[in-house]
Amino acid sequence: MLTTRPRGTNDILPGMVEHWRYLEDLIHSICRQYGYREIRTPIFEHTELFARGVGETTDIVEKEMYSFQDRGERSITLRPEGTAPTVRAFLENKYYAAAQPTKFYYIGPMFRYGRPQAGRFRQFHQFGVEVFGSMDPSIDAEVIALAMDYYERLGLQNLQLHINSVGCAKCRPVHRDKLREHLSASLADLCPTCQGRYEKNPLRIFDCKSPRCQELVAGAPTITDCLCPECAGHLEKVETYLQTVGIKYKIDPYLVRGLDYYTKTAFEIMVEGIGAQSSIGGGGRYDRLVEECGGPAIPGIGFAMGLERILLTMEQQGLLAALPASQEVFIATVAPEQDLAAFKLVQELRRQGVGAEKDYLARSLKAQLKFADKLGCNYVVILGEEELAKGKAMLKSMRTGQQTEVNLAEIGAYVKQKV
Ligand code: HAM
Repeated sequence: MLTTRPRGTNDILPGMVEHWRYLEDLIHSICRQYGYREIRTPIFEHTELFARGVGETTDIVEKEMYSFQDRGERSITLRPEGTAPTVRAFLENKYYAAAQPTKFYYIGPMFRYGRPQAGRFRQFHQFGVEVFGSMDPSIDAEVIALAMDYYERLGLQNLQLHINSVGCAKCRPVHRDKLREHLSASLADLCPTCQGRYEKNPLRIFDCKSPRCQELVAGAPTITDCLCPECAGHLEKVETYLQTVGIKYKIDPYLVRGLDYYTKTAFEIMVEGIGAQSSIGGGGRYDRLVEECGGPAIPGIGFAMGLERILLTMEQQGLLAALPASQEVFIATVAPEQDLAAFKLVQELRRQGVGAEKDYLARSLKAQLKFADKLGCNYVVILGEEELAKGKAMLKSMRTGQQTEVNLAEIGAYVKQKV
């Protein structure tokens, strides 16, 4: 136990961390260009927020939440997603009183107690955006375009963007009735979970993995068949905006998202080749959520993408480039007597902005050179008694093997100019 991490979690080790930072840097720069501002909400929230926000009949709320009682006997939950917390922060900090739309983005860990497998973890990381205060279809298209632009800048290939409309409070009940009618004769054949869904939220049956349930809903009326004129018109306009900027997509009437708050536009981005968990991002509009969380009637839309799945895809598509050496120069000593001078030089170089390292195990010169090579240093400075006395040292290029005598005071400038 003491040497094993909890199931479904990961250590992000040196070597990998640099790739994470690359993803994160790109997120900050793309979000700045699209006018989104970063928000950082707590890792845990009141359980009630997710029960209400995400939906009582979702897998997340029914079986995947990390919930516990704190010492004050409040029910607390590690956030399984970022939308409900962002809505809560939008309300609590009265952003609705400012000029709209409000455009947020976030990066951070999320927690879901699912069955771990390739691409599915219990602690994973999302990059997400949420926009409040606009019903305009162009904002739906912008949110989708931002996601697609990010994938494109990373160089990801073979992505499929699926879009659907899941309707609104007007057309959803019509679809619900038609769906129940269609399934009523085969109700006993549905899996026990879907029998419950039939009553509470029949749309969710489309999302069931059981082959029998899939068979039964195969010919059922889809929500897309039942959209009211407003929802149908909205979807059409979103499509026009996407086409204007050349974004390829597929209308997928069977697309049902795993969270209950969606209205109108819902979308998901799939990629081939990373296994069963092929969704690398998804989102949609949630025009009732702010009100359901106790706020004014303000619409919202957003997406989130899993960073682990993006990295998996990049690895699979050969996009994780070799990393440059972290240290530029190693200060080696001929004998322990030069160690004080080595310590002083390392500190001076670091202050000049040069990545420098020394030996801490009293190694022989030969072993120090071997270690410098392992660290990937470009240069080694060898401090010997005679050279030191003259204020000089031997500088060796690890790439060419070439040695040059240099003044100690000039090493920083020399290395900076070479690297
Ligand atoms: P979601 O579809 O549940 O949506 O999650 C978004 C993405 O997070 C998924 O497409 C996937 O890449 C990643 N993901 C989800 N669960 C896991 C897991 N267990 N392990 C690894 N990656 C995972 C949401 O969370 C919504 N809040 C998105 C949204 C924002 N809708 C509107 N605004």
